Amino acid sequence: MGLKIVVLPGDGIGPEVTRHAVRALSILTDAAHHRITFEEQAIGAGAIRQFGTPLPDSTLQACLGADAVLLGAVGEPGFDQLPPSERPEAGLLKLRRALGAFANLRPARCEDALVSATPYRAEKVRGADLLIVRELLGGLYFGEPRGWTGDEAFNTMRYTRKEVERIARVAFTEARGRRGLVTSVDKANVIETSQLWRSTVNEVAREFPDVRLEHMYVDACAMRLAVDPLHFDVLVTENLFGDILSDQAAAVAGSIGMLPSASLGGRVDLYEPVHGSAPDIAGRNLANPFGAIASASMLLRYTANLPFEAMLIDQAVQQVLEMGLRPADIAGSSRPSSTTEIGEAVEHTLAELIDHRHSYHAV
Ligand code: IPM
Ligand code: MG
Repeated sequence: MGLKIVVLPGDGIGPEVTRHAVRALSILTDAAHHRITFEEQAIGAGAIRQFGTPLPDSTLQACLGADAVLLGAVGEPGFDQLPPSERPEAGLLKLRRALGAFANLRPARCEDALVSATPYRAEKVRGADLLIVRELLGGLYFGEPRGWTGDEAFNTMRYTRKEVERIARVAFTEARGRRGLVTSVDKANVIETSQLWRSTVNEVAREFPDVRLEHMYVDACAMRLAVDPLHFDVLVTENLFGDILSDQAAAVAGSIGMLPSASLGGRVDLYEPVHGSAPDIAGRNLANPFGAIASASMLLRYTANLPFEAMLIDQAVQQVLEMGLRPADIAGSSRPSSTTEIGEAVEHTLAELIDHRHSYHAV
């Protein structure tokens, strides 16, 4: 069966990092004898310039006809003065919504080779491995009414029981394949949506008696994440809390440049690194491609159902880190490698891992 991928390189460092995710996917689907096709489309600031809108209909239609979408990044400082609905970011938000991708999985792991790249003492972070399950289509991002008139601006946080149920089920299911702990994050001491959230998560928990559930207020969770990341396994939370906590969780991985994400549960799955378009380093071959490459691994696992090939990407990333190659954001005082050096090292390592496997099978 063929796999049809729409690639949205987007703005800033998006194209530089996405290129290497595409190459990793090609190498592995080739090795698995899967056909894969890539179709590039515009989104974000580039699309505004070319089509006058951050999500052109041609892009949306292509995405809706694909098996998965691989996105780089959106955003450009020149558009900062525009209202939210006209900015490059609006293209991404509309796309998430149109795809129906409500379950945003953001794993954050501390690779052994990167312990010293984190701000933590080794014993506080070694082995940290958490998964943020962020609700992606509700809350303040999409709630109506919203607006800005004169000296007043307002947004609406709204959740339905069904929206909370479906994201909670994703979190409990993921926890089953991990350490079996779900931390549900809310602000139930202050806001009604969080009270609905908490009671609904408690109900869903009854379907998963083998998974432990704890509740944490978001402020307490931010603190606990800062001082004791080893405590956590799966965190499940609403859209904005998840946006904030997932950037914070990047500290355990050494840099936000390391983090991948998958947005699942809709008509088409969407994969993107958690980092933004980083306009300050765009076009300088300095960007960290690991987040994009790890997003390709998630695509192989969740959309292509190729868990072994996904694992090979994770292994290649680990090996390249063990070889001492570091992009600028995690290089510290050592010489940084360029985006292309890292990407090519991952590709080379993948080819070796595949070769090795073939010779092993031939014995
Ligand atoms: C993210 C980003 C996006 C979000 C922006 C670019 C719209 O911060 O994916 O975390 O807020 O969801
Ligand atoms: Mg964010």
